[in-house]
Formats: sequence, structure tokens, C-alpha cells
Amino acid sequence: MSANLASLYADHLDTLKRRADEALQRGGFDALVVPSGRLHYQVFDDRDYPYAVNPQFKAWVPLVKLPDSWLVYVPGQRPKVIYLQPFDYWHVVPSAPSGDWVQHMDVVVIRTPEEALQHLPKDPARCAILGEAQSTVGAFAPNNPPAVVAYLEYHRAFKTPYEVEMMRAASRIGVRAHRAAERAFRAGASEFGIHLAYCQAAQQDAIDLPYNNIVALNEHGAVLHYTDRDRLPPKPVRSFLIDAGAGHVGYACDITRTYSHDTGDEFQALIDAMDVAQLRMCDQVRNGFDYRQLHLDAHLSIARILKDFGLITVTPEVAVETGVSSAFFPHGIGHGIGLQVHDVAGFAESDRGGTLPKPEGHPYLRLTRTLAPGMAVTIEPGLYFIDMLLEQLKDRGLGPSVDWGRVDAFRPFGGIRIEDDVVCTDAAPLNLTREAFAA
Ligand code: GLY
Ligand code: MN
Ligand code: MN
Repeated sequence: MSANLASLYADHLDTLKRRADEALQRGGFDALVVPSGRLHYQVFDDRDYPYAVNPQFKAWVPLVKLPDSWLVYVPGQRPKVIYLQPFDYWHVVPSAPSGDWVQHMDVVVIRTPEEALQHLPKDPARCAILGEAQSTVGAFAPNNPPAVVAYLEYHRAFKTPYEVEMMRAASRIGVRAHRAAERAFRAGASEFGIHLAYCQAAQQDAIDLPYNNIVALNEHGAVLHYTDRDRLPPKPVRSFLIDAGAGHVGYACDITRTYSHDTGDEFQALIDAMDVAQLRMCDQVRNGFDYRQLHLDAHLSIARILKDFGLITVTPEVAVETGVSSAFFPHGIGHGIGLQVHDVAGFAESDRGGTLPKPEGHPYLRLTRTLAPGMAVTIEPGLYFIDMLLEQLKDRGLGPSVDWGRVDAFRPFGGIRIEDDVVCTDAAPLNLTREAFAA
């Protein structure tokens, strides 16, 4: 870790401690206790699912593969990491604790999960224990006190400068892999082949990625979460939508790009129009801006593009009012991102709880908060040709709002999504994705 990063990490820990102090006080607890999580097994089977670390644990330490370990924080004391390094010849054992984080923690190595009990606080009833039920050891069963969780999750939306650096690093990896994926697409690879090229360039296996890669050629781009990955390329190849991220010490990036095979065609022009609109939306990631408004504004921008490309017959305003724009753009404009690709507390009204409602008619929006410095969000407008949703327009008597000949012309290309990760600041937004593509 560079000296600068080391100092950012120290500041990050100070922020986490301050947050924990307040959260514990609100909940009336003496200690924060966070299990890293335990392996899950398939039903009636001895095969484990990929291990996913408790996000409340990896917020403190850059350790994403350390099951059955614990973080303990008592206000006024150094945080403690109870670090499981089992005697095990079946699996790779976590190496001895090392890294910059070690100097900030009291670290105790244990050899069995039960040994943790010797190092956890005396009275579990005085502890806020954050985790899943199956992390229980002895009387230490996660209780997830709502007042504590609400406070920590609400504030996790505000990334520390250290976290922004980790997300910047994740973005650089993701962009490197996106470039390799585009090369594979241009070389005629299948969806599966492109996915492998992506993983190779990211140097991350599929289970290391923050979410399942969406690698879609042609009409598959219209399936929002398409994860099948055909082993053979279609004939002809027309278009490519890739929504793929990467992780760095537990932080995610979430990036989508869309390409036309023939860069001189009308689908490329539609992508270019979406790109211009998406950049304008990214510029709205400003202190005090209601993310719900950003989503609603996006509908109007996309409806204007639909009009410009002759896909709708009504005005953009009417297309938004009647729900025609939602048939082409049926998901939210984005979500918070950080330790989780869909970060928590998207609807939190305050750090004491409460829910900020979604705008009526927009059930898939994942973030309804007002933007403030430190918040990291995705901006991911889409425009798709989804038969099911277009048929529903006809059923609702809105068929005449659409130029079906134009829809037929674009349908074989599937759809478009362009997604960047953007950090709200005191001034201009910081677009981590564009920054990485520009490097
Ligand atoms: N990759 C999932 C999403 O964009 O939200
Ligand atoms: Mn996303
Ligand atoms: Mn995505």
C-alpha cells in the first residue's frame, strides 16, 4: 500500500469507528461484533456454494476469503480481528494476517471456529452482532439490531476517500476486461468465448466477479439479466451488450457497454444518441439532486431519442405520461454501489429508518435518496426491444403510439444499455468508468 493509501485507510477506519460509536449508542450496546460468514452447503449434498463475505466485515478489513472469522469493535479500543487459520489439508488455508490493516487491529489467530468464543466479549447480550444466523458460535447469535443496522447502512452510502480509491481500482480492472471483451466480439467469439476473454483480462474467475456477467449478442440484449452464454456465435452477429463488473478488495464496479457490429449502421447511431444522453444524466449526479428526479428525467431523454429515431408516433412527453417509454426502458436508472453491487439502504429516509417511496409506476427503481457528496451510484439508461412489453402496449390500446415497422428494424439488435459508476462530490461528479476508459 502506498503511503497515501495507507493514510486513506487509517482515515477510513476512523470514520467507521465514529459511525460504530454512534450506532452502538443508539442501539444501547457496548460492542460491535461482526462474523465474516460461514460456508453454505447445497441441500442434501456436501458441495458448498461460493463463499460470500459479510459486507459489514469487509467494510473494516480488505479480507474477502476468510470464513468463520470475526471483527470486534468496542468504542475507545482498537478493533480486534479474530482470524481463523485452520489446520486443514483439504483446502488452501488463509495465509498469516498481513497487510497494512494489521497495524490498526489487534489480531488473534484461531484454529477452529469455536475458539472464537475465547476472544469475543464476555456478554453477548451487550453486543450488536451483525450477520447471518448460521454464523452463530456458542451464545453469539447475530441479533442485527435495527437501530444499529439502519445507521450503519444509511451511512455506508457515503464513501470514504479510501473507498473511492478501491472502486477506482475495481473500475480499472473492469475496463481492461471490457476492452478485451470488445476485441473478442470483433474477432467473432461466442458469448461464452467473450465471457472467458473477459475473465482472463480481469484475472478474475466468474465467482470472483461482483455479479454474474451479462454477455449478450443480438436479440439476447433484450433479456435484461441474460446469463446463458451461448457456446456458438449467432449468424449474423449484429450487436453486443455486455454488463460486467470486477471486484477489488471487496469493492465492485458495474459497467455496461453496447456495440454494433457494423459501426456505420443505424443501431450504432442509436447507441451514440444514448451515449450522449447518458453522459448528460451522469452530470446530474450532484449534491442535493433527488435520484428519483434523475430517473424521471431519463425517461424523457429516452423518449426524445425514441422520437428522433421514429420509434414512437406520439410526443416524448405523451410517451412518458402513458407509460410507452417504460416499455422501452423498463428498469431503474441505477442504484448505489460500493461493497455490494446493489448497495444497501437505497430507500432509507434517514439513519433512523423510514422509507422513501418510489415514484408511482416505477417499481424497479432501487434508489430514491437525494444525492450528497460521497454517494456512489450507477447511471444506466437502457433502450430495449422486448416483445412481451411491446405486446402489452398493444393490449392497453397504445399500439398506435409505436411505429412497428421501425421496431421490426431494430428488434434483431436486442437493446442498448450504457452504465457508468459515478461519485457525487461537492462539485462536478467523478465518473470512475469514463475515467478508466480514458486512461
Ligand atoms: N449488473 C446489474 C446491474 O446493472 O444492476
Ligand atoms: Mn447496475
Ligand atoms: Mn450492470
